[in-house]
Amino acid sequence: MKETNALGDVSILGLGSMGIALARALLQRGARVTAWNRTRAKAEPLAAEGAALASSPAHAVQASAVVVVCVTDYPSTYGALEAPEAAAALAGKVLVQLSTGSPREARDAEAWARKRGADYLDGAILAIPSQIGRPESTILASGSETAFRKSKPLLEGMAGTVTYLGEKVGAASAVDLAFLSHVFSGLVGFYHGARIIEAEGLRVADLGAMFADVAPAVGAMIKQDADSIQAGTYESSEATLELCARALDLLLRQAREAGIDPTLPAFASALFRKGVDAGYGNEGPSALIKVLRQGA
Ligand SMILES: NC(=O)c1ccc[n+]([C@@H]2O[C@H](COP(=O)([O-])OP(=O)(O)OC[C@H]3O[C@@H](n4cnc5c(N)ncnc54)[C@H](OP(=O)(O)O)[C@@H]3O)[C@@H](O)[C@H]2O)c1
Repeated sequence: MKETNALGDVSILGLGSMGIALARALLQRGARVTAWNRTRAKAEPLAAEGAALASSPAHAVQASAVVVVCVTDYPSTYGALEAPEAAAALAGKVLVQLSTGSPREARDAEAWARKRGADYLDGAILAIPSQIGRPESTILASGSETAFRKSKPLLEGMAGTVTYLGEKVGAASAVDLAFLSHVFSGLVGFYHGARIIEAEGLRVADLGAMFADVAPAVGAMIKQDADSIQAGTYESSEATLELCARALDLLLRQAREAGIDPTLPAFASALFRKGVDAGYGNEGPSALIKVLRQGA
């Protein structure tokens, strides 16, 4: 049986597709949830599920010790919380920001919250709404350790894995953005691969299944490259940067042969060629980081 208020009181501001999933996961685990959304109609179904609906951001902040915000972005957060009554109610509360933003926005938000007497935790959700509350979802958090301790049971009610990255408040969004960089560039690579498969009359669904199977091996390669970058040692007895550049040249040639949009291989091959031209061809592919460091 569901234990009443097992996780404590929480207010959730923002009930878009992610906010509503967070609220539902917490209600199902017995938290006492107060919810607010700018467009009230989106909040109404939650009342039938046991949430109290707040009539304003100020009322939501007043209702709970921990206030979770999950709106479009950081400016929208200020849009909701900057009204004097809401800002005044923040004193003594824990403010947990789960909207996506940059490390700089996290630092600014921490300073903003501290000025209003709130303890601030910045978070990042590595999941889609249907994964919330399930083992495959992850929430990263950084900032005040006391804020983390107070909100940890609630965060664990929302995600299968909760990782605290320390007091440097920009850490969660930095890791989130690095993750997004990896996911989106991987997806573009997959879509290009899907065009190669389509051009040969093969099944894209089979490619997806195969990629899912090899994901752990790709993860191991990434980890090896990460260790090499961290150590600053780029020698490789395996694949060289030159070999990778040649594979990308082949991808570009094949795209032209098959009439496939060459944007991705043209971009990637040009980048790796820069690495070869800079004299890193006999090092491992992770030496490409040295080219990217110069591009700032
Ligand atoms: N969806 C995902 O897969 C996913 C995954 C990871 C992280 N996230 C992050 O979670 C956050 C919310 O995403 P979502 O998918 O829930 O987005 P969404 O469905 O578009 O909902 C956006 C929410 O922000 C509110 N909002 C926007 N501008 C506002 C303002 N000026 N003042 C007050 N409220 C405002 C909206 O209120 P109204 O209903 O009134 O418009 C709505 O509740 C984003 O930062 C997103 O990057 C989402």
